[in-house]
Amino acid sequence: MKKNKKIIVVIQARVNSSRLPNKVLLKLNGLPAIIRMIERVKLSKLVDEIWVVTGESKVNDKLVNILGSSNIKVMRGDDLDVLSRYVKVTKKTGANIIVRLTADCPLIDPNIIDMTIKLLIDRKADYASNILKRTYPDGLDVEAFTSDTLIKTVENVDDKFSKEHVTTYMHGLHKNKYKKGNFILASLEHEADFSSLRWTLDEENDLIFLNRVYSTIDPLASWQQILSHLLSNPLIYMQNRIIPTNQNAVDLNSNNYRRYSKSNKLFDRASKTIPLGSQTFSKSYIQWPKGEAPLFIDRAYGAKVVDPDGNHYIDYVLGLLPIILGYCDEDVDREVIDQIQRGTIYSLPSELEMELAEKLVKIIPSAEMVRFGKNGSDATSAAIRLARAYTDRDLVAVAGYHGWHDWYIASSSRNLGVPKSVEALTFKFLFNDLDSLTSLFKKYPNKFAAVILEPTGLVEPDKGFLKSVKNICEKNGTLLIFDEIISGFRINIGGAQKEYGITPDISCFGKAMANGYPLSAIVGSRKIMNLMEEIFFSTTFGGETLSIRASLATINKIQKLNVINKIKSYGTKLIFKLNNIIKKHGLDSNISVSKVNWWPQLVIKDLPINDELFISIMRQELLMSGLLLGSTFNLSLAHTKADILKQTLEKFSDAMKNISLILNSKDPSVYLKGEHIKRTFKVR
Ligand SMILES: Cc1ncc(COP(=O)(O)O)c(C=O)c1O
Repeated sequence: MKKNKKIIVVIQARVNSSRLPNKVLLKLNGLPAIIRMIERVKLSKLVDEIWVVTGESKVNDKLVNILGSSNIKVMRGDDLDVLSRYVKVTKKTGANIIVRLTADCPLIDPNIIDMTIKLLIDRKADYASNILKRTYPDGLDVEAFTSDTLIKTVENVDDKFSKEHVTTYMHGLHKNKYKKGNFILASLEHEADFSSLRWTLDEENDLIFLNRVYSTIDPLASWQQILSHLLSNPLIYMQNRIIPTNQNAVDLNSNNYRRYSKSNKLFDRASKTIPLGSQTFSKSYIQWPKGEAPLFIDRAYGAKVVDPDGNHYIDYVLGLLPIILGYCDEDVDREVIDQIQRGTIYSLPSELEMELAEKLVKIIPSAEMVRFGKNGSDATSAAIRLARAYTDRDLVAVAGYHGWHDWYIASSSRNLGVPKSVEALTFKFLFNDLDSLTSLFKKYPNKFAAVILEPTGLVEPDKGFLKSVKNICEKNGTLLIFDEIISGFRINIGGAQKEYGITPDISCFGKAMANGYPLSAIVGSRKIMNLMEEIFFSTTFGGETLSIRASLATINKIQKLNVINKIKSYGTKLIFKLNNIIKKHGLDSNISVSKVNWWPQLVIKDLPINDELFISIMRQELLMSGLLLGSTFNLSLAHTKADILKQTLEKFSDAMKNISLILNSKDPSVYLKGEHIKRTFKVR
């Protein structure tokens, strides 16, 4: 390139950084960071002079001395008005083009500097930079502008922020907050997006990372060589990736290039008005490595969700299992939209209620009559009240999770606020452990109104277990309640009772029955259900029409497309392939995927580290790979589409590779960037 312009690099530096004091003087493999940086800038082919500008205050004396002894040109100026320092150095040198760098970029790349200058000249632009749309790693920031641009900026800028941040008026990225000039801009972009990488020096962890880089590479290596070095040394790479977001350094009006910054901001807002920031424990921040996880969902489609920062995930949580067909299923939503136009709730019952009741009676073995509720807890609580009324007894035996109401939650560790007198009525027994049930009956003969259990789930019932429970109940005049809130419409269209051929007295359905619309059902024999007329189970939104229409459409589609078998077959493939991936990465003694094909689970085996730390790291890495996955694989018809399995396997493999490296590192805890997850309580 023919060059008839004087081009200078101006590095702005200061010593008094609050996060990392003295940062520009801290040593990177033996040399101060700023000297390392200048060594790299010197490789530029287009730059005539390199200047460091710093403030007048005494704290910067040491910096000025060190630079002086290395024969580096320094100019001091106003401590706050950094813009005026640029003017001063431009006047002194007579430069036509000024390249602005900040001293926190010790891996700055001379070739990127030259490309930015060339872009400015070739496009006849006023300002050129790679920060207009970030694609390069954070810490390789280069801005170039002409002396005319600088003069116009000084003439127009009067606020403190713009004077401190120098180029605000030129690039206009904060245009909603600060004045913006009318300049010709040129954006330097890489074809691949590396903007999530952090190569800047701003805090302690950055220093550790940069030191590791400097002590393992040629200090003058190009940024591409550094990148390839990091890719072949993934532990260094991960160390860098896990440096927390520096919220203060990012003007939130500018391009939002941090992966979870919007989620974190929304959480701060939500937690001011919403305890826990969520309506559901299992959807709240305590379940995810906060800081390194999405905390909200913005939208969903098929098997995928998108968080507020625009990150897409394959979702294996599915709203905690109501989604069985996929998000926004067209066949269901079409029915719902039609129903909206006919009224969502009426003053008298509608025909829709009997239509759905008749449908359930046809497909569920224990169903002769049906009542509807809005959620699973409605259904289980109504079933328990019904059983108590029917048997004229008070005690209940429980195995599994059955909802938030007093009668059940009394038996959990999170029972604050539940009267002791209620707690005394609920007894736990263990799934697949008949002795634990019979001993209760022995201790309290003729006292149990009901035995309620999830008939199957993450663990299948042992052969004969359900039958024996039924026999015990019959012998003792106790009603048997199947809680099929999860198993319903997933294991079999008629529920686990159909799958295993055991018919309970009462059963509860919910979750998947309406593909995400709030609906539950209590079903049972006519003799028992008739007593519903005597007990009090009555609610304003019972019979709400949208959910019933959704349920009719959902059940029809499950039947028509043989959804349950499709999901099971997807589950079988998933289990086989995921276990192979786990093995390939040497993690098979640590974790495995269970064999229940309609609801596979990531099972923890032996771990060299604390369980919660491991789960936190695992969720962080799964999220990073693009999988929203808790402990179970909640499946939907949308997952069975061809490419979802392929994408899942690739993402899972990426995560397992990282987890394996982390587990084998000296101190796995340093790789958890987010907060530890906290368990609500363990029921399964
Ligand atoms: C087996 C089982 N029963 C009952 C419930 C309570 O349902 P809901 O949260 O809809 O009230 C749940 C919820 O997860 C459940 O898994």
